Amino acid sequence: MADIHVAPHLIDGKQTAEDIKVEIAAAVVKLTATGQRPPHLAAILVGHDGGSETYVRNKVLACERVGYDSTLLRFEDDITEADLLAQVGALNDDPAIDGFIVQLPLPKHIDAEKVIEAIRPDKDVDGFHPMNLGRMVAGLPALLPATPSGIVELMARQGIKTSGQHCVVIGRSNIVGTPVSILLAKNLETANCTVTLCHSRTKNLAEIVRQADIIVAAIGRPEFVTADMVKPGAVVIDVGTTRVTDANKKSGFSLKGDVNFAEVAPLASRITPVPGGVGPMTIAMLLLNTLRAATGAVYPKA
Ligand code: GUN
Repeated sequence: MADIHVAPHLIDGKQTAEDIKVEIAAAVVKLTATGQRPPHLAAILVGHDGGSETYVRNKVLACERVGYDSTLLRFEDDITEADLLAQVGALNDDPAIDGFIVQLPLPKHIDAEKVIEAIRPDKDVDGFHPMNLGRMVAGLPALLPATPSGIVELMARQGIKTSGQHCVVIGRSNIVGTPVSILLAKNLETANCTVTLCHSRTKNLAEIVRQADIIVAAIGRPEFVTADMVKPGAVVIDVGTTRVTDANKKSGFSLKGDVNFAEVAPLASRITPVPGGVGPMTIAMLLLNTLRAATGAVYPKA
């Protein structure tokens, strides 16, 4: 019989991300000591979506923390697709920029896929370009998407066993659900799971999730995972970050995960909080990708 924990055993993503940032900062000191300039990350932000503003601000602040240069390029949400593609082209061609991201979502009149495909794969530190996704699927060196690789790294650094475990991923987005299901099934020391990917058309979803040793909830629906879906002793990774209005908060909102934490935490052997779980790991892995891009670790520098 698995343990039923009264107090949840929290997975501290914030601390783990801090540890990674300390390692990256040390690598930057080493790099600059050899006469190289620091890594340089650029971010394109279109419009004024509150969530995107916060994410991009946190990414820029994280760059400062580890000694990177950063550039934020802001555009109004009436920018044309052609103008945005021209901005992507300029960053592609700028030798002072090692990597860049285009924060999503983009306004409806812009084809996000087209923009992502326009990013040079060796500067695609989000790991969203089909070249990087394809190389990841094939098991070739690639710039890996930050949230999926952050989830794998978080479990590894927290000593959570993955090999042979049944992992049920809920949600099949291009950013999280689909790539994390592929990474977790890879023959890697940090993965080797048996993976089931559930989505909106899955029959008997609760029954399948109840079979999971590890649950990755990435569906974007607040408190979707309830106690009846969780096997006692399961590891629960919550990727959800939906903003809900909260009059008790100065900002007027709070972040809600995809897991009903109050119900599920007592059942789980380990669980990520929201915020402070997966979110900080995404930023740490973006920084790591930028270091890999700057040093030619994946795609050798020309
Ligand atoms: N929107 C939500 N998550 C992400 C991310 O990881 N990268 C970018 N560029 N946009 C996002």
